[in-house]
Amino acid sequence: MNPEQPPAFDPNADLTLFGLGGSVVVVTGAASGIGRASAIQFARAGAFVMLADLDESGLAATERKIRSASGGARSIRTDCADPSELDALAEAAEQEGPICAWCNVAGIVRKVAAVDVDPALYRQILDINMGGMFWGSQVAARRMIPRRRGAIINVSSNAADEPIAGLSLYAMSKAGVNMMTRSFAKELGPHNIRVNAVAPGFTLTAMTRPEGTDTVALLARNAARSPLGLVGAPEDIAFAILYLASDASRFITGQVLRVNGGTSMP
Ligand SMILES: NC(=O)c1ccc[n+]([C@@H]2O[C@H](COP(=O)([O-])OP(=O)(O)OC[C@H]3O[C@@H](n4cnc5c(N)ncnc54)[C@H](O)[C@@H]3O)[C@@H](O)[C@H]2O)c1
Repeated sequence: MNPEQPPAFDPNADLTLFGLGGSVVVVTGAASGIGRASAIQFARAGAFVMLADLDESGLAATERKIRSASGGARSIRTDCADPSELDALAEAAEQEGPICAWCNVAGIVRKVAAVDVDPALYRQILDINMGGMFWGSQVAARRMIPRRRGAIINVSSNAADEPIAGLSLYAMSKAGVNMMTRSFAKELGPHNIRVNAVAPGFTLTAMTRPEGTDTVALLARNAARSPLGLVGAPEDIAFAILYLASDASRFITGQVLRVNGGTSMP
């Protein structure tokens, strides 16, 4: 049994469980979309947020937004495909305080038929989407283990469960993320560290709405797949990530939380 087993919850407790005041949280992919929305919500919950991405101007915009609301944040240009850059990011984050949550959000998608994939594209997608989350989890875990405290959250996808023509590499990378989440959860649970994934369904971001897309048709098509008739906003995913980073989810590990408007119910 975990020696940190806390007493049962007081059902009348206030909701500061969801607060992250004074914590340091790392968010990759923080220059855009789901990563940016998560970083902003973490800052609103009181965390100091380390913002990581390849896109420096996007990072600066996220940081400005957080600071203008009196939040704490710092940006570090990081290539998540490079384990040594992730280690440097973790080192920089620890200068601000012990990392309490690490969110692997950065990812890319390329639509290419499997018969046309070349080795460079294969390596690129797996190195960012799967490698970035593996090495990010590792550098976070190495720092969390001695403190016996921490949460790691990976952003997976609906595509992990459902083959989509042209997205074989993307779907493979996200299926890998789901198993990585469960594997890390098994290994890190005894160290009192929780590891979970959030699998978004169609969410309106730069990834799903490239320049020139007919947004009305795109939204209608994707909303029609949801029993709720909805597509996701980045904040819908951010709130699930926040929950999994907070003590409110202390009994949850090794899970993939599908935040997809009910488009798939495996
Ligand atoms: N938008 C959706 O519908 C959707 C659905 C399922 C899963 N996802 C996942 O959500 C995550 C975020 O996607 P999004 O929709 O916010 O997309 P986005 O394109 O808005 O953001 C992705 C961010 O990742 C960054 N990035 C890409 N490669 C990087 C690298 N090597 N190092 C550091 N940063 C890098 C980009 O610069 C960008 O800022 C991704 O992992 C994506 O696969 C998105």
